[in-house]
Amino acid sequence: MKATIGVIRGDGIGPEIVQEAIKVLDKIAGSFGHTFVYKELLMGGASIDVYGEPLTDETIREGQQCDAILMGSIGGDPTTSPWYQLEPAKRPEAGLLKIRKAFNLFANLRPATLYEELKEACPLKESIISGGFDMVIMRELTGGLYFGERKTVNENGMRVAYDSLTYSEEEIRRISIKAFEIAKKRSCKVISVDKANVLDSSRLWRNVVEEVAKDYPEVTLTHMLVDNCAMQLVKNPKQFDVILTENMFGDILSDEASMVTGSIGMLPSASFNETKFGLYEPSGGSAPDIAGQKIANPIATILSAAMMLRYSFDLDAEGKAIEESVKNVLKQGYRTIDIVSEGTTLIGTEEMGSKIAEGIQ
Ligand code: NAD
Ligand code: IPM
Ligand code: MN
Repeated sequence: MKATIGVIRGDGIGPEIVQEAIKVLDKIAGSFGHTFVYKELLMGGASIDVYGEPLTDETIREGQQCDAILMGSIGGDPTTSPWYQLEPAKRPEAGLLKIRKAFNLFANLRPATLYEELKEACPLKESIISGGFDMVIMRELTGGLYFGERKTVNENGMRVAYDSLTYSEEEIRRISIKAFEIAKKRSCKVISVDKANVLDSSRLWRNVVEEVAKDYPEVTLTHMLVDNCAMQLVKNPKQFDVILTENMFGDILSDEASMVTGSIGMLPSASFNETKFGLYEPSGGSAPDIAGQKIANPIATILSAAMMLRYSFDLDAEGKAIEESVKNVLKQGYRTIDIVSEGTTLIGTEEMGSKIAEGIQ
């Protein structure tokens, strides 16, 4: 097949890890007889440096001509980077929110799998993680606090800031359907996470999820409060199959889930609308603390590329080939700095990408 892939290299470690995902995609193209055409797109700090804004309308138009987008993380260190002298709407993160909204990417899928080989990198006890675990977080991505009205005003001589958390039943319904659909293909278990003991938006969330559940009698639905979920993720991660949750809770819980798999550098992410198009990126950030050192873990980005092959291009065998190669390289004992442990071999970003690419049959 022939596909056009938009490539947003991003900031910090972004260009380093994206390059390795492209290396792996090129190997797939060669081995399986596909043609991937890459279209470079600028977003985040890299776009601010060229255009003065984090995402131009022209870049969105170019992205719309692509079959999928592969992205490295964007952003810098807020205390030192000049990008954060700009007003909030012009900062790197605003570009990310704009692209999510522009493509209506309301469904964000973040799979957290503990590979047997990475048990040593997981901070939890052997008794908790034995047998591994495999969960996915279905995070709502275009609503909630991220997109509600926000303002900072002066009230009676005091600065007061507002961020509003809004959800319509339609927004809750469509993400719930996505979660139940994916649960059907897995262990048929959805845990919906909210704060229904306090928030109206969560009470509506719970009601609508219950309504959608009626169409999926084969799927077991339970509800969990978000504070309890944060605790349960480290107490007993094996209990989770599909976690369905709103935007902000999903952001926080996915970072927590990533660490339980060994590192944020392992967690891929895919964002969808109702079409085959998807935006694929690592769940973690641009890691300014290690940028430029060529030590970042490229696996989350490489696994995001595998998700792209599966979900946007229907290339299941090719996606599996990448995932198997990742497993094999870990089995051989190669590790980047974030997952290294005694008895394993420390390698850099480029070497990790090359080993995974070479391992593809
Ligand atoms: P971060 O995820 O960038 O880094 C947190 C810690 O994890 C750091 O110690 C970092 O070195 C480490 N880390 C992250 N990815 C790694 C990898 N692949 N390999 C090895 N170690 C890795 O979070 P932060 O420091 O809070 O944010 C930095 C910047 O990234 C901010 O500007 C933030 O807004 C942005 N950010 C962007 C995205 C995105 O583009 N999707 C996601 C999260 C954060
Ligand atoms: C993520 C990131 C973003 C988010 C930031 C950079 C806006 O943390 O993709 O998880 O909060 O969604
Ligand atoms: Mn995040």
